[in-house]
Amino acid sequence: MSLTVKSENTKPNKCGTEVVLLPVHLGLKDLPSISAKIDEKIKKILKSRDCRGRWGETEIIPPSLIGTEKFYAIIGLGEETNTSKEGEAMRRGCAAVASETNKLGLKSLAVDLFHQKNITSLANAALEGVELVNYQFTCHSEKLTRQNKNNKTEKIIFLSEKENFKPINKEVKRTKDMLTGVALARDLINQPASHMSPRKLVATARDISAKSDLIKLKILDRKQAAKKNFNAFLSVAKGSGEEPYVIHLTYRPTAKKDNNPKKVWLVGKGITFDSGGLSLKPADGMQSMKIDMGGAATVLGVFSVLAQLKPDVEIHGVIAACENMPSGSSYRPGDVITAKNGKTIEVLNTDAEGRITMADALSYAAENNPDAIIDIATLTGASMIALGETVAGLWSSDNELADQIITAGTQSGENIETMPMPVEYSDKLKSQVADIANIADTRYGGAITAAMFLKEFTREKPWAHIDFAGPAYMSNKYLPYWDKGATGFGVRTLLNYITQL
Ligand code: BES
Ligand code: ZN
Ligand code: ZN
Repeated sequence: MSLTVKSENTKPNKCGTEVVLLPVHLGLKDLPSISAKIDEKIKKILKSRDCRGRWGETEIIPPSLIGTEKFYAIIGLGEETNTSKEGEAMRRGCAAVASETNKLGLKSLAVDLFHQKNITSLANAALEGVELVNYQFTCHSEKLTRQNKNNKTEKIIFLSEKENFKPINKEVKRTKDMLTGVALARDLINQPASHMSPRKLVATARDISAKSDLIKLKILDRKQAAKKNFNAFLSVAKGSGEEPYVIHLTYRPTAKKDNNPKKVWLVGKGITFDSGGLSLKPADGMQSMKIDMGGAATVLGVFSVLAQLKPDVEIHGVIAACENMPSGSSYRPGDVITAKNGKTIEVLNTDAEGRITMADALSYAAENNPDAIIDIATLTGASMIALGETVAGLWSSDNELADQIITAGTQSGENIETMPMPVEYSDKLKSQVADIANIADTRYGGAITAAMFLKEFTREKPWAHIDFAGPAYMSNKYLPYWDKGATGFGVRTLLNYITQL
C-alpha cells in the first residue's frame, strides 16, 4: 500500500492537504468552525443544497465557491444515536469523495475528527472507503497500471487532539493490514481461470506460509487426498486437466501462559472455473465463473495478514481446489459418490459442484475438533435471486456464532443477513438411491436447500455458512467503494470476527 497516513492536531484550514472531509451528524451541530467568513458561506451552500447531515449524504464544496484554497467535503453520518451505522456512512462518504477527488487529480485528504466520539471506528471506515476506491485490477494492462498510479489518493491526515493519536495510529495499522488482505482476495478473484488454477491457489498459500513461522501449510495432491477419502471432491475434479489440491493452512498464536486458544476453521469454496461440467452452463451463466474460487480467495486474504494482526485464536483454513469441466473423464449426472464422512451422494446435476467439494472440506474440518466452522462460498445463483448483489446470506447451527458474524459484518459495512433452514425442506434433498441428492426436487429456496445439504457434513459442530455469490463480485456498481469486479467481501468481516474473539 502506497498510501501515507498520519495524525495531526491542526485546524482544518491550516493542514497541508488539498481536500478536507468534514463528517457531521444530522442537524450539522458538529460542523466545525473554520473562519467566520467561510463558515457562513459553507452554511449557505449547504442550505441551498438541502444538506443536513443525513446518513449517506455527501457534498463537495470546491474552493471557487467559498474563496479558499481547499476543497471541503461534508459527509453525513445521520442520527448521532445510531452509532452502529455511522461507520458505513463514513466509508461510503469517503469513498464517494475520493472517487471525485481522484478524477480531479487531488491526492491528499484530511479527515476532521475533532468533535467526534467514535474516533477509531471513523478512522477505520474513512481509510477503508478511500483505499477500496484506490484499488484497481491492473495485472493485464500497462495502460490501466499507469492510470491507476496517477489517479489515487496518496495521503490521509486524521485531524484530532493529541491524546487520540495513539489509538488512531493503532487502528490505522490494523486497517492497513486488513486492506492488504482484501486487495489480495480481489486480485485472486479478478484473475481469470487462465491465470488462476488450483496450482496457483497452492502457490499463493505457499507464499503466505513462507512469510511467517506462525503459519503452517499442508497440501494434499490427488493421490494423498484419495488416501484421506476426499472422494466427493475428487469426483468433481475428474473432468479437468488441472490437478486438484486440498490446501490446509494453520495459524497458531505465539505461546502464552494460558494456552488453550479457540479453534476456528475457515472453509472456502475453491472452484477455479465452474463450467457446470456435463450439466453445462449456458454462455451467459458461464461468463463470470472465474469467481467461483471467491471463498478460497477470502480465506487466503484472511491468512495473508494473520501474522501481522496476531489474534489469540488458532485458525485453520481449508480449500478443496479444483476446476469443474466437461470431458470424457467427468463425473456424470446419476453418479453416486461417497463423501469423506461416509455419506453417499447422488449427483443429479454436475453444476451443483460446490456443495460436493465443500462436503469433504467440511467433513475434514468437523473431524478435527473445531470450536467453530465458518464456510464461505459462491454457492448458489438462488442466493442472488433472494438477496441481490450486495447482500450475503448466513445460515448457522449456532446462534452465538451467527450473532458474532453479523456484528463483525456490521462493523465492516458488509451486509450479511440470517436465513432460515426449515426442517421440512430437508425432504427435498431425498435421493432414491443414496443418502442424499446434490440438488433439491424444486428450484424454490435453492440457496436454503444448498445450505441444508452442507449441514449434513458438519457433525453438528457449531457451523456457519456464508453464501456470497452476489457480493463477491459486482456486475454493476451499487456502492461508492466497490467498482465492477471483485470486492474482497468477507475478508474484513472475518478478520474483525477473529480479532474480537
Ligand atoms: N457457482 C455456481 C453458483 C453461482 C452462480 C455463483 C452465479 C456466482 C454467481 C454454483 O456452482 C451453481 O452453479 N449452482 C447452481 C445450482 C443448481 C444446479 C442447483 C445454480 O445456482 O444455478
Ligand atoms: Zn456450479
Ligand atoms: Zn460453482
